[in-house]
Amino acid sequence: MREKVVLAYSGGLDTSVIIKWLTERGYDVIAYMADVGQARLPDGGSLAVGQARLPDGGSLAVGQGSDFTTYKKRALETGAVKVIVDDLKEEFVKDFVFKALKADAVYESGYLLATALSRPVIAKGMVNAAHKEHAGAVAHGCTGKGNDQVRFEVTIRSLDPALKIIAPVREWELKTRTEEIEYAKRKKIPIDASKKKPYSLDVNLWGISIESGKLEDPYCEPDEDIYQLTKSVKSSPAKPAYVEIGFVKGVPVKLNGKPMKGVNLILKLSRIAGEHGVGRSDMVENRLIGIKSREIYEAPAGWVLSAAHKALESLVLDRELAHYKAGIALKYAELTYYGLWYTPLKEALDKFIDETQKKVNGTVRLKLHKGLCSVVGRKSPNSLYKRELATYEEGDLFDQSLAKGFLELWGLPYKGLYKGKA
Ligand code: ARG
Repeated sequence: MREKVVLAYSGGLDTSVIIKWLTERGYDVIAYMADVGQARLPDGGSLAVGQARLPDGGSLAVGQGSDFTTYKKRALETGAVKVIVDDLKEEFVKDFVFKALKADAVYESGYLLATALSRPVIAKGMVNAAHKEHAGAVAHGCTGKGNDQVRFEVTIRSLDPALKIIAPVREWELKTRTEEIEYAKRKKIPIDASKKKPYSLDVNLWGISIESGKLEDPYCEPDEDIYQLTKSVKSSPAKPAYVEIGFVKGVPVKLNGKPMKGVNLILKLSRIAGEHGVGRSDMVENRLIGIKSREIYEAPAGWVLSAAHKALESLVLDRELAHYKAGIALKYAELTYYGLWYTPLKEALDKFIDETQKKVNGTVRLKLHKGLCSVVGRKSPNSLYKRELATYEEGDLFDQSLAKGFLELWGLPYKGLYKGKA
């Protein structure tokens, strides 16, 4: 009997070629497509994303108006024995995206971890599929240079160490894209290689990661047309938009006063923020495997929610907790980026973070204008802000005479200590 393998299939060139390659090596390939919001938006629209090379694997190459049907057909035509489309959107938002939001996790100040957060949920889906299908192996299309291989494999190993992991792109003899296209033509694999593939895109509902091509020169300004979700400052409206985000225990539950499920809230907010040019970042980041890479990110809803969440925390967390948590945020972002999602430290940090979020309830008002997202108001039933202490106006309850003694003691260890010039 042929061995079964569950392949993270994107519909792009690499994973199409992988189907054939694995089939030729005696495997029955089950093409697994996780829906993490990369294709069709539930309100009928679709992301206008061009086909692109996907060296990091696992991501779907979406064309305007396309959906999973095209890719399903393609997988079967290429030789897959079965195709699974797994809707993970809700799980992705609830158990991954919102956990990172509560933690205020941002990698190297500019990356909200859209790709990094999607890998463990996809890998978990693959492991479940392998169990259901009685497959002894899983495969992905990641290269040996990226972070995604790490995230897939560490997750798969921590969930089921008995599964064999195959990473064809790391071992096969097809070194360039041209060689892959040749192979595909030779083997009559239905691919869409006619268009030039200028960039690599990874898309999900939290954001888009764009890399390679011209972007490999870190001094080169990205062409405007690489952006899929955000308008340029020039073409965004002259009039600002205001949005109100309601939170319960650190989780966004309302948009402009309307209760909304996470997936919908993100998609709606993404439209509004993107329209106003909010959510772009351009950075050189440190990959886990030791190289630096230039990345462009778009996460319009992400940046608005992140700003709103931090603003609400500033109102309800006391100073010590807030400052300590900011350190945890860095660690949390690293663990996510490094593929260490299903690990004891990450689990323990989640418990800590949930404890900190108990009072993070309230509403934040933000103004979106010409690429800027500014918090303009925040309120909470658990606010620690006391106007009667802060005010310089009538009604001041702060006893300024107490400051004298406080400062005597606060400055005591340093009296006359500094030997430099005054
Ligand atoms: N550098 C980012 C990360 O490691 C994005 C990876 C994007 N992947 C891709 N196939 N374009 O999370």
